[in-house]
Amino acid sequence: MEFDRRALVAILVCVAVSAATAVAAANGSRFDELFQSSWASDHMIYDGELLKLKLDNFSGAGFSSKSRYLYGKATAEIKLVGGDSAGTVTAFYMSSEGANHDEFDFEFLGNTTGEPYLVQTNIYVNGTGNREQRNDLWFDPTADFHTYGILWNPRQVVFLVDETPIRVFQNKEDKGISFPGYQKMGVYSSLWNADDWATQGGRVKTNWSHAPFVVSYRDLKIDGCEVAVNASDEDELRRCSGSEWGKEGRYWWKAPEMEELTVHQSHQLIWVREKHLIYDYCFDATRFPSAPPECVR
Ligand SMILES: *[C@@H]1O[C@H](CO)[C@@H](O)[C@H](O)[C@H]1NC(C)=O
Ligand SMILES: *[C@@H]1O[C@H](CO)[C@@H](O)[C@H](O)[C@H]1NC(C)=O
Ligand SMILES: *[C@@H]1O[C@H](CO)[C@@H](O)[C@H](O)[C@H]1NC(C)=O
Ligand SMILES: *[C@@H]1O[C@H](CO)[C@@H](O)[C@H](O)[C@H]1NC(C)=O
Ligand SMILES: *[C@@H]1O[C@H](CO)[C@@H](O)[C@H](O)[C@H]1NC(C)=O
Ligand SMILES: *[C@@H]1O[C@H](CO)[C@@H](O)[C@H](O)[C@H]1NC(C)=O
Repeated sequence: MEFDRRALVAILVCVAVSAATAVAAANGSRFDELFQSSWASDHMIYDGELLKLKLDNFSGAGFSSKSRYLYGKATAEIKLVGGDSAGTVTAFYMSSEGANHDEFDFEFLGNTTGEPYLVQTNIYVNGTGNREQRNDLWFDPTADFHTYGILWNPRQVVFLVDETPIRVFQNKEDKGISFPGYQKMGVYSSLWNADDWATQGGRVKTNWSHAPFVVSYRDLKIDGCEVAVNASDEDELRRCSGSEWGKEGRYWWKAPEMEELTVHQSHQLIWVREKHLIYDYCFDATRFPSAPPECVR
């Protein structure tokens, strides 16, 4: 299997926003408050409450949050490319910048008409990824909007599909395992052509006679500790990871009940892994003759 070779160079336009507030939220109609085009703005379409990205044989497109965050939850309601989406990848992710960056990825791998999408998730810590998991879904993600979320706090990173956890990465720093907790992150989404690897291992190519391929967003939301551009990262890290845990509902993503899955969520995760897990790097002895440290129980 070939994995993520995303040749995506997101052009990060640093915009000085007055970023004193901790919580920002928006939906399609208020998209511009939170996000901006990061490449190919001519392939980004506003359609009433919806925002759409278009992929044709000239370009895909992408957008990024205007601010950076330290902990929080990002969610997007997405309706994926319908019909023949083979070769296309839609990504929704959080990432910091630089060689030692941290990143949490949802990558939706398209397929031929009637064949199932795969959801690939990956986690980069301090510049190292190679932590792919692949799931199929319990619904058709092209038929309607569904909510995809990434929760990030000092104890765990959780990938959620319609609020059902499909993956958890726990903080095991006490066991010497790096956890992404020190670098501010932006929120990103993009649609691009990845037919060298995405569909059935790259065997099925994008059929451009079915272009344009369109992905729709109805609601985009970020609840997070927004990093002030004119403050030092150290100060902001202290502020964002400080003792405001759950106080007055602010910083709720760090509240004690967010530190681990609830019993109900644990049961959901077990169900997802039993019924919908296709691939887990933790069990790939070909790639990893000895299991990566975070995989060892
Ligand atoms: C979007 O936000 C506006 C203002 O907060 C609200 O009135 C509207 O119902 C929201 N729409 C959706 C689809 O959530
Ligand atoms: C991150 O990686 C660099 C080398 O690439 C290393 O020097 C540094 O200690 C690492 N940081 C953490 C927190 O693991
Ligand atoms: C596409 O459909 C085929 C056949 O059902 C399946 O094996 C594959 O996992 C699906 N997804 C991708 C991304 O190739
Ligand atoms: C691409 O789609 C067209 C129109 O549906 C079809 O005629 C053609 O056979 C497809 N090409 C491939 C390689 O599947
Ligand atoms: C893009 O695709 C369209 C429709 O299939 C085709 O007419 C056009 O020649 C293609 N352009 C390029 C640059 O490949
Ligand atoms: C950052 O800039 C804003 C707006 O100019 C200002 O109100 C705030 O005091 C500044 N904060 C710091 C830490 O300099």
